[in-house]
Amino acid sequence: MTKIDKIVLSYSGGLDTSIILKWLQETYECEVVTFSADLGQGEELEPARAKAEMSGVKDIRIVDLREEFVRDFVFPMLRANALYEGQYLLGSSIARPLIAKHLVGIAREVGADAVAHGATGKGNDQIRFELAVNALDPSIRVIAPWRQWNIRSRMQLLEYAEKHRIPVPSDKRGEAPFSIDANLLHTSTEGKVLENPAEVAPDHVYQRTVDPIDAPDATEIITIGFERGDPVSVNGKAMTPAALLTELNGLGGRHGVGRLDLVENRFIGMKSRGIYETPGGTILLAAHRGIESITLDRAAAHLKDEIMPRYAELIYNGFWFAPEREMLQALIDHSQAFVSGEVTLRLYKGSASVISRASPCSLYSADLVTFEESAIAFDHHDAEGFIRLNGLRLRSWAARNGR
Ligand code: ARG
Repeated sequence: MTKIDKIVLSYSGGLDTSIILKWLQETYECEVVTFSADLGQGEELEPARAKAEMSGVKDIRIVDLREEFVRDFVFPMLRANALYEGQYLLGSSIARPLIAKHLVGIAREVGADAVAHGATGKGNDQIRFELAVNALDPSIRVIAPWRQWNIRSRMQLLEYAEKHRIPVPSDKRGEAPFSIDANLLHTSTEGKVLENPAEVAPDHVYQRTVDPIDAPDATEIITIGFERGDPVSVNGKAMTPAALLTELNGLGGRHGVGRLDLVENRFIGMKSRGIYETPGGTILLAAHRGIESITLDRAAAHLKDEIMPRYAELIYNGFWFAPEREMLQALIDHSQAFVSGEVTLRLYKGSASVISRASPCSLYSADLVTFEESAIAFDHHDAEGFIRLNGLRLRSWAARNGR
């Protein structure tokens, strides 16, 4: 094994990363710096400090990354209306490059030669962390304990914890827990009964949304303001990116908006089934499409939609810090110069529907489209010629086919 002098570990303070911390200290016999990020997962991070201290960690970093996460990662992605495989809003995928960026930043600051993460060997997250580290600093090594140690199951993990006097919360003993990943954009739940896609997900997997059946019978009308492609206000109140997403999560969650039960194709090669809850993100996607519908030119909008699946796949596969993602981002960002205005939506029993939109930069012309008498010069004979010429090749084709 190569000699490592200092490691920065992505550390939640949970059971897995506590065990990883101990394992790194024992295996590499070097200093481990812990890094815990607040991404809005809704979990207190101070207990992580106490646990790291107990394990003899000298340098403990706890950083609130909520604003950076939403402003520099979630919002740029939303400008593209990104969805993986038509449905997944990429809540876990988009958080990894941010964590990797800070792991690398701290590693450089403290002179560490390696970073470590707790992602397992079958998932997408290991790929995302490591591709991001590669792209940001090729001199930093990555340690992935789940791929290196002999622990092969949750049972063995608990045995290791017992042997090393790492406290195991009682609810982690009996049955294996779900694998949960949460941040301001979503909660993702995988594992256990969800591993059988033919089995209906039990109600208790849902954490931040009510069942649409139990949502209020009254509708709720909300207005979201956009500036150059990014949401900036809710119901007329200006908000920071993280505050805005937090607000929409509350509103959406109460109305059962943003639940998704999905079987997806992992980059590593297998299919997996997960439950996603993305209340605020679901509202924002509908609202952003709403404001784009009146502010984007047709060809610009269609080009965005063509590249979107490619862009989403890049993020899903871990290529956030890759040149092709940055190129597509430049195209997307350029398209947003006039995407400003207000969208009103109705939240009702699991749905978030756009009911009106308005913009000072609108391309919509009521005068042009109206069924009534119009002031704008539109010669109906032009439409006749337009159709005749577009039909020219269809008439030749049909004649040849003998129809
Ligand atoms: N399958 C999702 C993705 O790759 C979520 C992964 C993390 N979620 C979890 N519950 N471990 O983006």
